[in-house]
Amino acid sequence: MLRLSVLPGPPRSRMPEYKFPPAFAWGTGSSAYQTEGGWQSGGRGLSIWDAWSHTPGRVAGGAVADAAADHFGRWRDDVRLLHRMGVPYYRLSLSWARIMPAGVGAVNEDGIRFYSELIDSLLRHGIRPVVTLYHWDLPLPLQLEHDGWLSPRTAAAFVAYASLCFERFGGRVLHWLTLHAPAQHAVNGYARGEHPPGRTVAPTREPYLAAHNMLLAHALAAARLRKMQAARPTDQRALLSLGVHADWREALSGSEADADAAQRSMAFTLGWMAAPLYTGAYPPAMRAALGDALPSFTAEQAALLRNSSDFFALQHYSTLMVSRPNATFPPLPETSFYAAEGVRWHSTRGARKNSLGWDIAPFGLYKLLKHIDETYQPRGGIVITESGFPSRGDDAAPHEATRDTARVCYLKRQSALFHRAMGEGVPVRGYFVWSLLDAAEWEHGFGTRFGLVRVE
Ligand code: BGC
Repeated sequence: MLRLSVLPGPPRSRMPEYKFPPAFAWGTGSSAYQTEGGWQSGGRGLSIWDAWSHTPGRVAGGAVADAAADHFGRWRDDVRLLHRMGVPYYRLSLSWARIMPAGVGAVNEDGIRFYSELIDSLLRHGIRPVVTLYHWDLPLPLQLEHDGWLSPRTAAAFVAYASLCFERFGGRVLHWLTLHAPAQHAVNGYARGEHPPGRTVAPTREPYLAAHNMLLAHALAAARLRKMQAARPTDQRALLSLGVHADWREALSGSEADADAAQRSMAFTLGWMAAPLYTGAYPPAMRAALGDALPSFTAEQAALLRNSSDFFALQHYSTLMVSRPNATFPPLPETSFYAAEGVRWHSTRGARKNSLGWDIAPFGLYKLLKHIDETYQPRGGIVITESGFPSRGDDAAPHEATRDTARVCYLKRQSALFHRAMGEGVPVRGYFVWSLLDAAEWEHGFGTRFGLVRVE
């Protein structure tokens, strides 16, 4: 696998220069399943994504990530690339199945050694690792034997795995993310059926249960880390958060009904994860619409959640317009996961689509940052832990593929927008471009490229 180009010098532009505070955390990232490969090397167990991608018809073009971007084999080169790019932070995820092949019990010391050497090498190169413990690649036995995230046993298994990682890598890793975008993981796996376990039998119930167990897994792991660090001086304690995915939802018209719809839509997406983290309960609009289909937190769990995040970890990609359903756009059928949200979505006016069909509407990031700050006033500020721009996976436009003009423009536009939010007092503390390398893009296989570095 050839790394073809490091982010080229951006085209000269007439954009003004923006100054960011020296401590601003610039970074890029990757995830284990999408990037590592080495699926049967070094004692790694199987994950739900291995089983899913090896099932014909599940991933576009039958693509499997057995080799992915061969980060497992070429990580030393990749660290050198990061060093040449000059990024001070790198977000990576650990493969749970590489560390604990069955998800529980036996520890694979070769897996620990792999990550240990990677982390040490990053640190030697002056790059600080931000480590995500779980980016959607559940060890397969936990799905087969425990029913995956539908069972609290998986949450308990996660806490044991997290504790092991805190023990083995703690001291060197000062920024942890427990789980990555639980709501997306739950909807894709338990309502849309586009990701494993591909369940569509109870789309108005199972996603809420799966996401609930993930939130509890996060809260319990956070409590464990706090306990393990209690004896350390405050300034030597690692910080921890949960990755929250949120698009921006803009009202389609100036009507009160559409403003209401936009607010509802934010509650059902951002609020689904963020409200429990900052208030200890799901948003009232979700509770009113879903009743008992939405699980509840005990007082003790709510307290753990409220104390679980040291900063707001935001993942953002796009913007949609929303309206109240009407005669032209009637409500969705009750059997749909999306019915309870009670809105209809529309393309963003004036926005073009990127190669994944998402609206290119960077203004949404600015509005989202303001909204998060006003609604949750997150302690520790906001780190945009993931945002990026996909280009086509084929080589139809070789110049674009190596020059990355559209991506560079998008990232500049975004930087200008979060800089503006910062100027207005929103505490944005960092920005991580997704992703370091072109990699396996889940159900799309290798059909799309997010990498700052092109991989052949
Ligand atoms: C995921 C990434 C993915 C990106 C683009 C994010 O939600 O975290 O793994 O590559 O979306 O689809």
